[in-house]
Amino acid sequence: MPSERFPRLLAGVHVIAAREGTLLTTRTGHYRGPAELHPLLHRISPLLDGRTAESALLAMVPEPRRLAVGRCLDYLEYSGALRREERPRPEDLPDQLLAVADLADPADATPYERCAALLAAAASVSAPADWLPLLDSSLRQLSVRAELSAAPDVLVRIGGTAVALPSDGGRLVEPTGPVERAVIAAAVAAEAVGRFLGRPARPLPAAGALPGLDRSGPRTSADAPLLEAWPTSDQLQALLLDPSTLLPTGQLACERPAAIRPIEADAGPGVPEWLLAVLRCVHVPLRWESGDLAHSGGWAHRGLASARGLYPIELYLVTDTGAWYVEPGELRLLPVSHPASEGSGPAGLGTRFTLVLTARETKVSYRYQRYATRLCLQEAGLALAAIGDAARTTGVEVGEVVELAERGRSGFWGELLDLGPDERPVGRVTLDPFMRFGSRSAIDRHLDLVRRRHSGHRVFNALGADRLGRLGSLPAELAATPDGTLKSYLVVHRPCLDDAGGRWEPGCYRVAEKGLMLVRAGLAPTEQLQRGQDAMGWLAPDYAAASATVIVAAPIGEATADLRRLHAATAAAARVAHRVLLVTAAAGAAGRIHNSMRGDVTAAVTGDARIAALFQLIVGCPGPDGTISVGLG
Ligand SMILES: Cc1cc2nc3c(=O)[nH]c(=O)nc-3n(C[C@H](O)[C@H](O)[C@H](O)COP(=O)(O)O)c2cc1C
Repeated sequence: MPSERFPRLLAGVHVIAAREGTLLTTRTGHYRGPAELHPLLHRISPLLDGRTAESALLAMVPEPRRLAVGRCLDYLEYSGALRREERPRPEDLPDQLLAVADLADPADATPYERCAALLAAAASVSAPADWLPLLDSSLRQLSVRAELSAAPDVLVRIGGTAVALPSDGGRLVEPTGPVERAVIAAAVAAEAVGRFLGRPARPLPAAGALPGLDRSGPRTSADAPLLEAWPTSDQLQALLLDPSTLLPTGQLACERPAAIRPIEADAGPGVPEWLLAVLRCVHVPLRWESGDLAHSGGWAHRGLASARGLYPIELYLVTDTGAWYVEPGELRLLPVSHPASEGSGPAGLGTRFTLVLTARETKVSYRYQRYATRLCLQEAGLALAAIGDAARTTGVEVGEVVELAERGRSGFWGELLDLGPDERPVGRVTLDPFMRFGSRSAIDRHLDLVRRRHSGHRVFNALGADRLGRLGSLPAELAATPDGTLKSYLVVHRPCLDDAGGRWEPGCYRVAEKGLMLVRAGLAPTEQLQRGQDAMGWLAPDYAAASATVIVAAPIGEATADLRRLHAATAAAARVAHRVLLVTAAAGAAGRIHNSMRGDVTAAVTGDARIAALFQLIVGCPGPDGTISVGLG
C-alpha cells in the first residue's frame, strides 16, 4: 500500500476556463486540459493545501466522482501545478516564503526544509553604514533576522549562499541616491532569500539600470513608431473597441529608450517639503517585486500604476523663475531652461507652481506600437488624478488641466521644456501651497495606502481565494462619484461583503444617481467576460477566481469624436479608476487595470452597445504569489 501523500497546489499556477478546455500555466509550461478541470479545481483547491491527506480529500468526494478527482490530481502533478508531499505542511511557514520556495526547481527536495532552515538561520550582512538599515529592514520583511557589520562592500550571506555587491562593479560608486540605494538593498535582500530557498541566481541591477529608474538608454527610441498626432475617429474607435487589431503580432526589435529622461545637468534647487510629499506618492518606487513574472529579475513599482511598468509620463516643474525636469526616484530638479535668470546663476524656485505632464511615446510604442496612444492617455489621466489626490491630502489647492500640445521642441512648452521628438504635453496641475499644510499623519496615511496599492499579478487567478470577496468601501465610493457622461458598472463575480455590512450577490450593477442598480442578476455577466477574454489565451484573467470587475465607460460617439475628447473622457474615467485602486488597497485586496475588453464584450455584459470601456479593473484577493514586495523608505 503506498504511503499517505498530502497534495499541495504550487504558487504561481494560472488556470482559466477557455472555450475548448482548461488552460493551465505552471512553472513547467503551458497545458491544455479538459474543460471539467476548471470547475473541479475551483471546488477542490481549498483542500489542496498540503495539510489534507489525499485519502481524506477523496473520502469527501462522492464515490462516483472519486476516480475523476484522482485523475485530476494526477494531471495537475504531471503538469507541474501540484506536488504530493510526503508529510503534512508545517503550521509555522509563512505563505509568502513557501511561494518563493515553489519557484525553485520543482524536482528538488521538499521546500519545507528550506523555509524552516531560513527561519532558523540568521543572515550576516556587511555593508557601508548607509546600506545597513535598508538591508536589515528588507530582510526583516522577509522573515529573516540579520547580524549587521560595517564594511566597504555589500555582502548578504544566509547559510551557504551569498549575494555580493562589490564597490568596483560600479554599483556603489555611481551617484547612488537614497531611493536608488533602498531599491537595490531590497533587490539584494530578495535575491539572497530567493537563492537560499533554491531559486536560480539572477543578475542584480546596477543603479543606472534599475527597472523603472534606468537612465542608461537613449532619450528616444529611434526606430519605435511615433503615434498619429491626430488619429481619425475610426482609428480611435478601433483603439477602444478592438484594441487587439493595433497590437504588434510578433516581438518588435525596437530599441528600448531610457526609463528616465537622461539629462546631463547638475541638480537645481531643492524640492520643498510639501511638494516632496506629493511626488513621493506618484513618482518614487515604493515596492520591489522579484517574482517569476517580474521583468529582468525584478521590478521597482511606483505609487502610480503603469502598464508593464513602462512609466511613459514625465513630470516638469514650472514656476515664475524656471523650469525643471523632475527626476523620478530621487526627485531631483534638473534644469531644462532658465527664462528668468539666464546668465545670472542658478534660479531660485520662485512661486506659482505648475507641474506639466508629458508623455514620452516611444517608451510605450517601442513595445506596443500604435496601441501606445491609449496607454499614454490612460496613464496621463491616472497621473493627474494621483497628483491631485496626493496634493489635496497635503493641504494644497489644486487645479488639474487635461491638454494636448504639439510634440517635440515646437510650441511654447516644447521650447521651454526642451521636449524630445517623441514627447508631448498631456496635462498640467497648478499647485497653491499657501492655503495650509495638511497634517503630517494624513499625508503619511495617504502614502501608506498608495504603498499598499498593487496590481497583484495573481489577481487574474486567485485559486483558493476566500469564497466571500471583500469590496470594502468600493460600492459606496462608486455611488458617490456618478458622472453625467461616464457610465460605470460593477460586475460581481462571487458573493462579496462591503464595509457597510452589505452583501453583494453575483450580477451586473450600474452606477446611477440613486446608487448601484442591478442590471442583471447571476453569473451570466461573469461568464460573458470570461468567454470574451479567452481569445487572449494564456494571458486572460480568470474572472471566476476574482471578486468583481469595475467598468468605466463612455458613449462611443462622444469618446471618439476626436483625440482631445477621448483624452478628456479618459482623464475623467481615470479619476474613478484611481479611486478604485486605492479603495481596493484599503480593503486589503488588489485591483488590476487591464485593457483587454473588446467592444462586443462590453455591450454583452452591460447590455449597452453604445458605450466603450475606458478603464476596466479586476478586483480580487490573490493568494501569495511567489513575489516579494519590499517597502521602501
Ligand atoms: C493603463 C494601464 C493598462 C493596463 N493594461 C493591462 C492589460 O491589458 N493586461 C494586464 O495584464 N495588465 C494591465 N495593466 C496592469 C499593469 O501591467 C500593472 O499595473 C503593472 O503590473 C504594474 O504593477 P502595479 O500596478 O502593481 O505597480 C495595465 C495598467 C495600466 C495602468
